[in-house]
Amino acid sequence: MRIAVIGTGYVGLVAGTCFAESGNTVTCVDIDEDKIRRLREGEVPIYEPGLEELLKRNVADDRLHFTTKYEDAIPGADAVFIAVGTPPDEDGSADLKYVLAAAQSIAEHMTGYTVIVDKSTVPVGTARKVKERASQHTKLEFDVVSNPEFLKEGAAIDDFLKPDRVVIGSESAKAAEVMDELYAPFVRTGNPIIHMDIESAELTKYAANAMLATRISFMNEIANICTRVGANVDKVRKGIGSDARIGSRFLFAGLGYGGSCFPKDVKAVVRTAQNANYDFKILQAVEDVNERQKRLLFELVEGHFGSDLSGKHFAIWGLSFKPNTDDMREAPAVVVINALLAAGATVRVYDPEAMEEAKHRHLGETVAYATNPMNALDGADALILVTEWNEFRRPDFDAVKERLKTPIVFDGRNIYSRKRLEESGYTYFGIGT
Ligand code: UDX
Repeated sequence: MRIAVIGTGYVGLVAGTCFAESGNTVTCVDIDEDKIRRLREGEVPIYEPGLEELLKRNVADDRLHFTTKYEDAIPGADAVFIAVGTPPDEDGSADLKYVLAAAQSIAEHMTGYTVIVDKSTVPVGTARKVKERASQHTKLEFDVVSNPEFLKEGAAIDDFLKPDRVVIGSESAKAAEVMDELYAPFVRTGNPIIHMDIESAELTKYAANAMLATRISFMNEIANICTRVGANVDKVRKGIGSDARIGSRFLFAGLGYGGSCFPKDVKAVVRTAQNANYDFKILQAVEDVNERQKRLLFELVEGHFGSDLSGKHFAIWGLSFKPNTDDMREAPAVVVINALLAAGATVRVYDPEAMEEAKHRHLGETVAYATNPMNALDGADALILVTEWNEFRRPDFDAVKERLKTPIVFDGRNIYSRKRLEESGYTYFGIGT
């Protein structure tokens, strides 16, 4: 099939590359000329394991193309995926101007029946607006389908090629058939393609992210109670996770969720509910808990060292909002570091992938950047672990101790054993452990 993808952000690039990998001819469109030029040369602007290799192969095999022009991509396409950004506007709701502009350009350039697919995470009701906008700009037949994306950063390729499920919201059998054919190669293992109406598909994406965010905030509150009553959240997690109704995944307490999806989507659902005259109490609490949780590590530091941290120096391990990505959007690291700096401390950071991102977008020259995990530690009053990259999991704690001024560890992801560290002479702080 011939496919076009509008927007070469995370979702667009991964979807475009994976559809090319399954044998389709794919053209990705983006207005950013520099980005398109780099992509043509096989340079991937984000860090995502496996993506660059797959992209290069499909570019070399002439199945994957990049352009800044709609006229190079839309004519003759069977399906066009809209994967442009939906940044929150001033009141927190998703700004649809890019989505609707894409709908219009698709309509203006299509040459026959086309399935227009909403791939971006968009509020309920968007597909209707896309249909309306497109129909103002073409007389040709088309359908609009909602096909939310559930990929996780760091595991995006795998998630796309082997999805737990594919959700398709459509009111046209013809469009549903095109989508089934496109996704058939990815569901050979028997995982379902779930067909539904458009509004349900749009809400499914939000409900999934809202549920997952709720699990995290719930566990973070359990952790905060654990601290107060002398329980251990890791034990509680194992205790409840073995119940099949609860399940063991996504129950880790920590510094709160970040990234491009959960914070934005939780806010968007609260907003959608408000617009429908419904007060979504749980979800507002989920967000409030998360905001509080992002500050927790700083509060532990303050509790130990006092509120004036001038003259204190800290080593930070991990900047990205989670491991295996360089993404720092809504990363707890930014909150922790800014709070430390505001209290007068100095900070040296290390992250395997996110330091460029930190330097250019989030922290600038306010912190020092280490060249490896160990030299981040030199002379620090404590080590603060923020992101649980594998390379931080088993450090040589004797060597760590020699470099630190005082052997203190604040473990924001509960990856170290309190017992082992205390036996080695450390003072250890975890999240509910
Ligand atoms: C998420 C969804 O998983 C994905 O389906 C959706 O399409 C986009 O949003 P992503 O943002 O890439 O994906 O990250 P994810 O791995 O889900 O983690 C989200 C956040 O939750 C991270 O900040 C992570 O540190 C945190 N988290 C996750 C916890 O604090 N505890 C957990 O047990 C799991």
